[in-house]
Formats: sequence, C-alpha cells, structure tokens
Amino acid sequence: MNELYKFPSGFASEQFVKYIDREEIVEITKNLAEAINKRYQGEDLILVGVLKGSMLFLSDLAKNLRNINVYIDFVQLNSIGRDKENAGTILIKKDIKSNISGKNVLIVEEIIDTGRALHFLKERLLLSNPRSLEVITLFDKPYQRVVPVKAEYIGKKIEDQFVVGYGLDLDSYGRNISDLYYLKYPN
Ligand code: IMP
Ligand code: MG
Repeated sequence: MNELYKFPSGFASEQFVKYIDREEIVEITKNLAEAINKRYQGEDLILVGVLKGSMLFLSDLAKNLRNINVYIDFVQLNSIGRDKENAGTILIKKDIKSNISGKNVLIVEEIIDTGRALHFLKERLLLSNPRSLEVITLFDKPYQRVVPVKAEYIGKKIEDQFVVGYGLDLDSYGRNISDLYYLKYPN
C-alpha cells in the first residue's frame, strides 16, 4: 500500500493486505447494475445511499443504470455507545430529503455486518410507505449478523475481516482507495 497515505496512529502499511482489486469491483458493480436494470426497467427509482461508506459504490452503480429514471438521496446514520456487550443506539444524523411515499426505493450499502444499521434504516423508510423497498450491497459479511436482515442484491460475500478502501474507512482513513484491503492485526 502506498506509503504516502497517512495511516491512523498505531497502524503500519504492512497491516493493509490487498484483498479485492479495482478490476474485480468494476466487474461486480456492472453485474449488479444489470440486475437492477432488469428489475426497474422503465420505472422510477430512488437510490438511498448510506453515507459515507457507500459513496463510491453508489456513484459507480448509478453510472451503469440504463432506462431507469434514477433519483439519488442520502442518509447518514450514527451509532453511539456501542461496545462488545452493548449494541448501543443508532441515530439518524441525516435523514432523506425526498418524498418516497409510493416510490420504488433501493437502499445502497457498501457492506452489511451485524445488520443493525440496515435493519434500523429499513424500518425508518418503511414508515414513509414506499411502493417497494429493496437493498443492494457491494459486500456482505454474514458471520456476525444479529438482526436477520438480507440484501436482495449482493455483490460479493467476503471473509469476516475488517476491510478498508472503496468507500470503507479505518478511523476516516482510506475511503478514496480504489482497491479493497483487509486489516491484518498484529499478534
Ligand atoms: P452493521 O450495522 O454492523 O451491519 O454495519 C454498519 C456499518 O459499519 C457499515 O455500513 C459500515 O459503514 C461499517 N462497517 C462494517 N464492516 C466494516 C468494515 O469491515 N470496514 C469498514 N466499515 C465497516
Ligand atoms: Mg455503511
């Protein structure tokens, strides 16, 4: 990994191991876009991106959508008081800005881990009575799921590792990196 990047304190470049390269992410995203194109052909669709992690994926996905009237909105969630024993509280830091009532809505996530954030968001959006509500995620880590929530469209199931790059961060670091790395913790 490029030494010019400023790593969060306590982390070294050797700890970032290349996991999925950009070409594969492009391929995965194109295949996902094809499925969305088939499902929503000729219809309106509101993409709801979950900030900040989904920004690169949403951008690349949206560019590959055809024959769909695409609208884009964002939410930002926050989780406070979360630790090993406590699930903490999920907060809506930024809500949607559009009227989704009677509309097709697709939540765009970059990764699902415990499923808590996605479950919370689905419940919130359902309260606004969308016509349909589906979820697309680039990566899925199904091992630590505590809420039985599933995405209709999954790019790739990955190992139970902490990953960084392509929108995903470690202490705000690494969102702009085009490839995906996993973090090797020191013994
Ligand atoms: P969940 O509520 O545990 O499913 O995950 C909520 C959020 O945690 C995801 O949308 C990501 O923003 C973040 N997250 C989960 N796994 C990772 C990871 O491996 N790297 C970076 N962020 C992650
Ligand atoms: Mg996210």
